[in-house]
Amino acid sequence: MKGIVLAGGLGTRLRPLTSVTNKHLLPVYDRPMIYYPIQTLVNAGITDIMIVTGGNSAGDFLKLLGNGKAFGLKHLNYTYQEGEGGIAEALSLVEHFAAKDSVCVVLGDNIIEGNIAAAVESYRAQGKGAKIILKQVPDPERFGVPELRGASVLRIEEKPAEPKSEYAVIGIYMYDGEVFDIIRTLKPSGRGELEITDVNNAYITRAEMTWEELTGWWTDAGTFESLLHASNLVAQTGANKMDLPQSAEASAV
Ligand code: DAU
Repeated sequence: MKGIVLAGGLGTRLRPLTSVTNKHLLPVYDRPMIYYPIQTLVNAGITDIMIVTGGNSAGDFLKLLGNGKAFGLKHLNYTYQEGEGGIAEALSLVEHFAAKDSVCVVLGDNIIEGNIAAAVESYRAQGKGAKIILKQVPDPERFGVPELRGASVLRIEEKPAEPKSEYAVIGIYMYDGEVFDIIRTLKPSGRGELEITDVNNAYITRAEMTWEELTGWWTDAGTFESLLHASNLVAQTGANKMDLPQSAEASAV
């Protein structure tokens, strides 16, 4: 399984912090934001990693991360997204790297307290299709929100005005090699992006989507409030701890 960190986009919600640098190079407490998603993959045993960067300061990722020595890696792969065509567009750029293998995709501004090793293991056992990870949140309207019936996820809505559950689809996704064919069928959304929620709905339609609930806190860091919140959470409790058990509860459509 290959690991992908998506660190493209223009970070417009964080201007002027992102006027001259890339959002994922900003500090979250004592580390640059990009460190957290890389550590999430490494803690799950995924060491063949590609970083998709874009916008400003792309060369600074290479200066900062090199070949991933800080994470115990021997090599890191990089590619570049022009513009801000969406999360699914950024993912489409790694097709050659994935080379039909499955991928674990982590959004560059998503930070977790615990680890996803158990979810990755259960996805490996699943053998095909996709897996998403859910977390109960007080403000689901900011995220992709699943409509659940029992153990099944019926559909996901992107930033719905009236959320159908209290869960957010967090920015960690597992897909098989079919994902690139699915992305080729997508049309840009109202915000002009290829949406990862449309990719997930395609897997739901195929009845090939499973989900798990995350143990420990999760946050994004893409707004002023969530960036501050992320720094405070990391300062108070730490992130990417190895010892938090993942919920054993998994479910299939
Ligand atoms: O944080 C989880 C949420 O992330 C999900 O619940 C939503 O379903 C999903 O759409 C996404 O929502 P956001 O609107 O918050 O995503 P944002 O545009 O902030 O992008 C998140 C990361 O994805 C960003 O830090 C880098 C990467 N990205 C984003 C875009 C738009 C790219 O690599 N390229 C892009 O063009």
